[in-house]
Order: sequence, then structure tokens, then C-alpha cells
Amino acid sequence: MRFFIDTANLDEIRQAKKYGLIDGVTTNPSLFAKEQRDWKELAAAICKEVDGPVSLEVVGVTADEMVAEARELVKFGSNVVVKIPMLMEGLVAVRQLTEMGIDTNVTLVFSPLQALLAAKAGATYVSPFVGRVDDIGSDGMELVQQIVTIFSNYNYQTQVLVASIRSPMHIVDAALMGADVSTIPYKVLEKLAQHPLTDKGLEAFLADWKKTKGAGE
Ligand code: G3P
Repeated sequence: MRFFIDTANLDEIRQAKKYGLIDGVTTNPSLFAKEQRDWKELAAAICKEVDGPVSLEVVGVTADEMVAEARELVKFGSNVVVKIPMLMEGLVAVRQLTEMGIDTNVTLVFSPLQALLAAKAGATYVSPFVGRVDDIGSDGMELVQQIVTIFSNYNYQTQVLVASIRSPMHIVDAALMGADVSTIPYKVLEKLAQHPLTDKGLEAFLADWKKTKGAGE
């Protein structure tokens, strides 16, 4: 499974790179707003920093607006994936961008039918928002399972990019289901290696080492 980091923060991207845990980046307008800096400079810096796909989102709502924005966004780097909202107009844009050889990520996906439509339009990625589905009392991971099954039934090449991840268990479940990518917020990424038994075991080993003859001499 590939790991993307869901952030527009360069420090977080650099730290994830240091851990060797970053195959790409996803952003959205809210993540850019949090950074409080010129978005164009930041987008260019992210694309340069990352050796892998970087999703940058359009803010237009008609197909023409989205395609025009996409043409500008791809100038930030050869690794840009254009994020398109799940709208009928978005599907029109995805078809055109696919024909133009531009990679797309259909975002704000909350139902298996929306994912199927995105795949039929030729999207490179589809982003089900699992955390937001959980938030309304539904089951976000069931949505991922449905999408993985549908894509496998019809051999769609569109990749399932699990988004709105809130906990390490989302990633375990996504991996068990065979989703292609998890896009992970930095605060969740930091938790992936944690286990209380690892901490307890290490504490005991280090304490015992202090009692070992010849150690520390
Ligand atoms: O990048 C889109 C997605 O991951 C948003 O997550 O936490 O705002 O629901 P969240």
C-alpha cells in the first residue's frame, strides 16, 4: 500500500520524507488556508519537495472552470494530480483531463455510486472520505470495501485513495481491503509505529542492560 501525506505543511512533508513514509501528497483548499502563506509559492515548493504525486484541488464548479484551472495547476510540476470535486460537471472535466493525459483525483466521494461514476469517467484516483462518513454515524470502511469490490468486478484501473483518515485502524482496514493508497494526516502518521508493549519491552531491555556486567564501561 502506498502512503500519501494529507497536508500542505512543508515541515510535515519533510519529516515524513525523513521517515521514508511518503509516496505522495494530497492537499485541499482547507489545508492550504491553514498554512497562511502564498498558495502558489507553497504549491510549487511541495511539488519540488515530493518525489511522487501531489494532488492540488480546483475551486471552480463548472467543467470549463475546472479544466482551465487544471491547465494552470499542472504547471507547478510534472507530478501534479488535479483534484476534482464529485459533481456531474466534475465528471465532464475528468473526461476531458483524462483525454489530455492529466491525472485526476475525484474528491468528496461518499457513496459507491459516486466512485463508480468517477471510474467510468477515467479518474486516476477516487477519494472516499472515511472519517467524515464515520462522523455521521455510517461506516466509512464499508464504503471502501464496496468501492474496492466494484472496481475489481469490472477491472477498473482507477485507484482507491482512502482519505479523511482519523486513526491507524483506518489504515489497517484499508490495507486488508486492498485499497491502493492511504492519505494520512501527520498526527496519525506519528502514531503508526506506536505500541505500548514496544515501549514496555524497550524500557525493560534498557533497564536490564544497566545491570549487565561490562555494559557501559
Ligand atoms: O484531503 C481530504 C481529506 O483527507 C480531508 O480529511 O479530516 O478534513 O475529513 P478531513
